[in-house]
Amino acid sequence: MIVRGIVGSPNSQGRSAELVQLALQGAKDIGADVEAIFLSDHDLKPCSDCTDLRCHDEGRCIFSDDLPKLSEKIDTSDGLIVASPVYWSDVSNSTRTLFSKKIRMRTQKTNGLPALGMLVAGGSGNGCTEAMRPMYLFFEKLRFRTISSFPVTRYNYTQARDYSYKGGKKIAEMAKNRSKLDPVALQLLNNDLRYRNYSRIDERRLIARLIVDNFEPSTLDERKIKKEWTTEMGRMKNLFSRDQKAEAILILDRIIMEGEKRFA
Ligand SMILES: Cc1cc2nc3c(=O)[nH]c(=O)nc-3n(C[C@H](O)[C@H](O)[C@H](O)COP(=O)(O)O)c2cc1C
Repeated sequence: MIVRGIVGSPNSQGRSAELVQLALQGAKDIGADVEAIFLSDHDLKPCSDCTDLRCHDEGRCIFSDDLPKLSEKIDTSDGLIVASPVYWSDVSNSTRTLFSKKIRMRTQKTNGLPALGMLVAGGSGNGCTEAMRPMYLFFEKLRFRTISSFPVTRYNYTQARDYSYKGGKKIAEMAKNRSKLDPVALQLLNNDLRYRNYSRIDERRLIARLIVDNFEPSTLDERKIKKEWTTEMGRMKNLFSRDQKAEAILILDRIIMEGEKRFA
């Protein structure tokens, strides 16, 4: 059994790389062989949306690149982990390129293959759930048995490390009993994936919640700030329930702006 982890960040020492290594360690502890694949070590030409469809018919792009090699690695895995940094609320360009090209190849070899995606935001945290969409879509198109992703931000990075390790373990466990998904099961699975249907405001609420929950005050002043944020979160919730969105959004903006400074 082999579980592979794809790192979609150009930074081989960064957070995406660290979370993939942790997930692979989890899989290894269940008895899997593991391999990390760094997209930045591969030559992947952007998809030109051509109508040649050589990728579909012959398994290679009209531009000579590492697509066949990467595709083979994915198809022969028993479990897959993909981590991409969040760039402008999306996956990285190399990750997106792999996704588009692999989807276009339309190979049917990944049906039921367990998969976990991780989206690693760093700055504002914006896009930590929005960027899950292209990841989830990739897994859906290739009929993976996807498990829910989780938002990775600098506010919850300690938990994210733990989730990654446990996620890797889960993928390796699932790989032992791989079974195909029929079209209905595939739709149901993908409909229920966590954060998939989050709106922009849902995401902002989540980021603010992560800030408030994970802020550990060490001075009296900081304790006061945390208490104030907690009260404001309650007020924000009330405002949303009364459809007073504009005022509620201003509260979220303030907490997120202040939080960014506190977690710098
Ligand atoms: C071009 C670019 C766009 C980015 N866009 C976002 C963003 O939309 N939201 C966010 O929270 N962080 C953003 N970041 C920060 C990265 O998500 C963050 O540095 C991440 O941890 C990088 O992952 P890595 O350590 O694996 O390279 C961006 C960084 C770059 C270089």
